[in-house]
This record gives sequence, structure tokens and C-alpha cells, in this order.
Amino acid sequence: MKKHFLQTGLALALSAVLAVSGSFAVSAEEKTGSGTAQGIDGDVKVEVVATDEKIISVTVTEQNETPGIGSVAVDELPGEIVENQSIQVDDIAGATVTSTAIKDAVKLALEDAGIDSAVFDVAVEKEDEEAADAEDAEYEADIVIVGAGGAGMTAAIVAADAGKNVIVVESQSMVGGNSVRSTGGMNAAKTAAQDENEFGESAGVEKQLAAAAADYADNETITALAQTVQEQWDAYQAEPEGYFDSVELFELDTLIGGKGINDPELVATLCANSADSIDWLDSIGAPMPSVSSFGGASVKRIHRPLDDEGKVVSVGAYIVPILQKNLEDRGIELLLNTTATKILAEDGKAVGIEAEGDQGQTVTIHAGAVILATGGFGANLEMVSELKPELEGFMTTNAPGALGQGLDMAKELGAATVDLDQIQIHPTVQADTAALITEGLRGDGAVLINEEGLRFIDEVGTRDVVSAAEIAQTGSYSWLVVDQAMVDASSVIAGYISKGYTVSGETYEELGEAMGVDAEAFAKTMETWNGYVEAGEDPDFGRTSFANPLDTAPYYGIKVTAGIHHTMGGLKINADTQVLSEEGEAIEGLYAAGEVAGGVHGGNRLGGNAVADFVVFGRIAGENAAAYVG
Ligand code: FUM
Repeated sequence: MKKHFLQTGLALALSAVLAVSGSFAVSAEEKTGSGTAQGIDGDVKVEVVATDEKIISVTVTEQNETPGIGSVAVDELPGEIVENQSIQVDDIAGATVTSTAIKDAVKLALEDAGIDSAVFDVAVEKEDEEAADAEDAEYEADIVIVGAGGAGMTAAIVAADAGKNVIVVESQSMVGGNSVRSTGGMNAAKTAAQDENEFGESAGVEKQLAAAAADYADNETITALAQTVQEQWDAYQAEPEGYFDSVELFELDTLIGGKGINDPELVATLCANSADSIDWLDSIGAPMPSVSSFGGASVKRIHRPLDDEGKVVSVGAYIVPILQKNLEDRGIELLLNTTATKILAEDGKAVGIEAEGDQGQTVTIHAGAVILATGGFGANLEMVSELKPELEGFMTTNAPGALGQGLDMAKELGAATVDLDQIQIHPTVQADTAALITEGLRGDGAVLINEEGLRFIDEVGTRDVVSAAEIAQTGSYSWLVVDQAMVDASSVIAGYISKGYTVSGETYEELGEAMGVDAEAFAKTMETWNGYVEAGEDPDFGRTSFANPLDTAPYYGIKVTAGIHHTMGGLKINADTQVLSEEGEAIEGLYAAGEVAGGVHGGNRLGGNAVADFVVFGRIAGENAAAYVG
């Protein structure tokens, strides 16, 4: 039976005669509906304007998704749904929770408008036009950069500022890689911000000097650095000025944190260029004025961004959009969804890359130099467990693109690798979602509590040590405990609460019960801890970094466990970021920076050194590749 309905609608009043099929009417009337679904951080609400046969617009009206990750889906998916007239558009890689939430909310919005959502719940058809777009493409550039994470974008900006024509390719549909997930901050020594923040003296220096003497007496580099730091420390104590830190102390911390197996030249380069890199970030619009403690650092050295209210924000979600804007401002070409497959070589020199576009087309980029900034392989769980079988079954904090492709491509050119089996686990990964809970919370005063309601380690120790201690606790997990005063100072913690990661209580006993630990023992632990903070001494575990007592109710706990976080090994590079061959020679025209390169962090990376790594070595790679192409 066929029917004709006369519909009234403002926009389509003149085309009110409707096509009808089957037993239901198809209306050209514009209708509006709204729908809500759960995103990564609360509700994602959308409003849809549609007729029975056409989606006219999709607008996300409410959301609090992660900047630089979920926010990419918020920006892109509504347009794709309208363009393809389908709810089955591809998820944005790395933002699947937000993508699913948007698609579910659109479905609900259609139904809310009285429209059959099944009409649009169909596979996306590939248009002929798209097939035509998928033709092979060829480009010329001075420098091609593989990977648009922190290192790649930093190198691109520096090379473009040196007057070079740069193309960046990125395998994912968004920039940022692991860098955008980075929460903590950036380590840098002898900065203006360290002196501007008023800190008391740190007992961490003495502790590190003692560790150098006790554990590294036969390591010449560490012993020489310890001697220099001792002299600097003695001089500072005789005549204190500003806050005590030094490039050599930063080196000492990084080498001891890395168990002494780091490449000392790369460490010296990292540390010597760190303060200047903070100034460089400032110059591109990314100041980092807050300074605090992080694991394995003898002094307060991690630099963090603040929001307009003076609250600490996540470093990656802050820096990555600024780097991207700097790329755009310079007109640097960025090819997303383009996976490099091969480095082109002539007479042993890197002269470009071959890549695969999102529709299988071949993209060839001829260039004077190639910078690999493809990141590590922490999302390649097969490779991780092959190299370190004890990590089989661990969760990962890594972005989906961290698969290690850069390593294979460079190895085909004879590149050497270093420390590939050095894979870091991070002790505070949210137990249900694998979300990284920043070490910054511990640096700012949080404690770790086991099922028995007790502390079990110096929470600001290095990640390997804290992770091992946590794995040894009942159930191999712990609770990270903060108070309301810490929440008030950090939009990062406020985000954890709104994401549903916390349980809370008005008293220690209440929180203890909510966490399911021995509540009486927990209350005693907290009273004792607050006393240690007041005294500036931790007789139980020797913690030397203190903030405020955790005595402002309500109190919060986040259940955490260890997860794969960073791959310290990678391509062997020299301090000029040139990739080295198995014979130890620089491969001409080939540079590497960021997590794809190994040797900087040795056996264990310090928190805050990944951002330092990508800024320092990204800048060096950009400068040197630009000088090389002339
Ligand atoms: O815990 C964190 O915020 C991680 C920082 C880092 O890996 O550098």
C-alpha cells in the first residue's frame, strides 16, 4: 500500500511531497532530535537535524573528551556521518570510545526525532570519486619526516624555520602519537621557573650522591658526575642562591635512573639542552611555569603547563595542539593516514620514503633527508612479549600507532638498534581502562596504599622500583590516594574524578571501606604519613620529596596497577641524531628522534624525560637535517 503525506516544515515547505515505500512513509520534513551516550569523560550529547532519508547536520552539543584524542573524533565524525549519510563511518583511530559514543548518540538522536535510524545504519559506500582520489602520488621536499608526534612536529617546525620545505607523514588519522597522551611534564635543569618557584632544600641530592657511591663506584661517568655535583652542592650550601639544580645532577639522575646503561653522550646532550628547550617551547607559545617532583629526580625539575586558573594540566594535550598550530602557521604539509613503508636510498644515502595512503595508493616522497620520528613499539604487544616474555598479558598506555615500523624500515638500510629489550612498565595505570594516571600525583603528595591499608614504597622512586614493589603486593595492585586540596590544584585529577576513576570518602575510614582495604590500618597509615610530611622525613621508606599533608576531606582513591609505558630501546643514534649503521657509521641523510631512538634512557626512563627527549632531540634533528640538505 502506498500513501502520500503532505508535510509541513520550514526549510522544506516547498518539497513536501514524499517518496513512500513499503508500509511506512518517508518524510522530507526536517526533524530535530538529541541523543546522549557515554564518552571517555562523561556524556557526549549530539543534536541531529534530518529527514527520513537524509541527515542534514550533526552537532556535538556537550562533551568533555580528551583534548587531542577524543576531541579529534568530536571535530571530525559529525562531518563524516553527514558526508557519508551513514552511522557506520570508521572510528577515529585511538579515539574509539569517543567515536562509538558519537555514533550511538546520533542513532538515539535520530530515533528521538522519530526517524528510523536503520536507514543510516549501513556500510559506507566507497564512491568512484574516492577511488579516483586514490591514485598514486609523488612529492618533492627538502626533508620528509615520518611521524607527527612530539619529535616529528618539533623537527618539522625547526627545519621549516631554517627555510626548508618539509613534508610530514603520519600513519594515524590524528597527530600526537604517544606525546599527546603524556600527562606529567618535561624535565629541565637550571631554568628560570625553578628559581621562581619557592622550594625548600631537597634531601634528594644527598640521597643520590650516596646511591652513586654505593651502587656505581665502578662506573666512571657516574663517579665523575657525582664528584662534580658534590662540589656544586658544597658551594651552594656555603652560599645558597636560587634553587639548587645542575645539568650534571640531571645527568646523574638520568643515568642512575637508567641503571647506568644509557649512552652518556646522549644523556649529556639531553640535559645540557633542556633549559634552552623550555625557552624554545615558550617561544612557540607553550610556556611551562609550574615545577614539581617526579620519580627518580633528586630535586624539583619537572616543568608543567598551567591553565587560566593556575591549575596543572596534562602536558601532551597542551603541547600537541600548539605544535600542530605551529605546523599550520608555517604551511608545513601534513599527510595523515599515510603509513611509511620504506626508506628510499641511493648510494647508501636516505633520499625519501615510500608510503601507503589510506586507500592503498602509493605515496612517494623524494627528499634530501629523512627524519624518523615514528615512536616506540609499546602498542605492539607481540613484539613486547617476544622481547620481554614476562610482560605477556600486561596492559599498555600506548597510542595504537606505536608499533615499531620505523625500526624495520631503518634496519633495511643497515641501521643498528640498541637496548630493544628495555621496556618500561608504569606503576599507576588505571586498573580497568589502562588509562595513565600521572606520576605527577605522587610528586605532588599522593601515596600508594596496598590491600592491607599500608604504604609499601617511596612513591617517588623510579618506575621500575615502584612497579616491582606494587606487583609484589596482594593482588599486584594498589590505591593511589589524594585529598581535596590536591584536586583543587589540578584539573588533571578533576578529570580523573569525572571519568569515574575514583572512589571517595569523607573520612579515611570511609575511603578505606570504599577501596576495600583494611580501613582501620589505612586511617593509621594516613595519620602517620601526615606526621612524616610535617617532619619532612619518611623513616619507613626514605621518601625525600614532600608536599602537603593529605588532610583535606574528602579523600579519593584510584585503583592502579602496572602497565607497559615506554620502550627505551630503538635505533642507535649519535648526539647529532644521525642514525648509525651496524658498523657504527652515520647513515647519510637519515636522522631519528623521540621514542624510535634508543640509548637515551638506558634501562629505565625517568618520568618527564620523554617530553624532554622529543623536544631536545626533535630540535637537533630538525636543525641537522636542515644543515645537511644545505
Ligand atoms: O606519569 C606520567 O605522567 C608519565 C610521564 C612520562 O612518562 O614522562
